[in-house]
Amino acid sequence: MTTTALIVAAGQGERVGGLPKQYRLLGGKPVLRRAVEALVSHPAIAKVRVVVGAGQEDLAEEALFGLDVGGLVEGGAERADSVRAGLAQIDGDAVLVHDAARPFCPPDVVDRLLAPLEFFDGAAPVLAVGDTLARASDRLEEAVDRRGLVRVQTPQAFRLDALRLAYNRWTGETPTDETTVARAAGLSVAAVEGDSALEKITTAADLKRAEEWLASRLTPRTGIGFDVHAFGGDGPVMMGGIAIPHSRGLAGHSDADVVIHAITDALLGAAGLGDIGEHFPPSDVRWKGASSGLFLAHAATLIRERGGMIDHVDCTIICEEPKVGPHRLEIRRKIAAVLGLAEQQISIKATTTEGLGFTGRREGIAAQAVANIRLEIDQ
Ligand code: CTP
Ligand code: MG
Repeated sequence: MTTTALIVAAGQGERVGGLPKQYRLLGGKPVLRRAVEALVSHPAIAKVRVVVGAGQEDLAEEALFGLDVGGLVEGGAERADSVRAGLAQIDGDAVLVHDAARPFCPPDVVDRLLAPLEFFDGAAPVLAVGDTLARASDRLEEAVDRRGLVRVQTPQAFRLDALRLAYNRWTGETPTDETTVARAAGLSVAAVEGDSALEKITTAADLKRAEEWLASRLTPRTGIGFDVHAFGGDGPVMMGGIAIPHSRGLAGHSDADVVIHAITDALLGAAGLGDIGEHFPPSDVRWKGASSGLFLAHAATLIRERGGMIDHVDCTIICEEPKVGPHRLEIRRKIAAVLGLAEQQISIKATTTEGLGFTGRREGIAAQAVANIRLEIDQ
């Protein structure tokens, strides 16, 4: 059985407001990208196609960069129109229709959905209703017996030809999911155990909750960085992206910014991504004289692309000269800006070595850094 996942992402996200919710960042990654990644990586899914709103193609391309989703399909005015548009563009034996607004799909839900297709036309994940149910206007009306009621989530799995047929026969008001259409056409739909991770993002509060849930699953990691550059040539000295006036400068392949190099290595170390030399080899002419801010920004991007977040960076600059104190806050501000963090998340300190060692002899400057980040670690 070959299965295509169809992700509908053509809504406007009016209830959340602002940028359509599927393009909002959740732990540094667009909601849509998370929904797609969860399915594209599943071994039972052969293809993933995404339905996007007219005019949202650029947003979608950017959110899905590098993922194998074939061409984008243009959606329609209602969710059901978008599903129909998608169904017309796919092939295979089975389809898994999923909302982009449900960014976390555990792989075992997909297994639970595909297994019944041998005996059923479709399957949907359901959750029991925990709260009391009642009709209400501005006041409570009669209670609704919740026994036998469930909440139906997506993804929903169907034999492709059966779901197409059901949609062709549908004459009712616009449906909010596929089980509604399938049941009306008399298809058999298995109810399998859903998952609270599949909760749909509908309101701004849902988006916030998803962000918190994600953060609670991140694992703290600490990285350490160290760098030294020797004095050589004329000033100024670059420290933390700031040019500090001095009679001598630091020698180096790039701009010899020890502060940025140490922090970049601390970030890469925390993320287990090797070191600065690996990412920006001195042998590569592209980095000759390059502003080190580029390296630092790149390290932050690598962490965020992996769904991680940077909590704090602490750096100690070790030198007798130039005096760092007067520039400390400016360096802090600059590092915070490059990393996209608040100033309170950056600490810059300086010390001398009391005239001892190479820094004491004023032969060069050293910097040490520690970075605390949180990462999604695959179990
Ligand atoms: N959807 C779609 N095409 C539409 C409407 C919705 O593909 N014309 C998609 C949404 O992008 C979402 C899913 O269907 O992934 C569920 O819809 P919903 O939660 O209602 O999202 P929106 O319609 O975007 O939000 P709102 O109703 O608040 O505007
Ligand atoms: Mg909607």
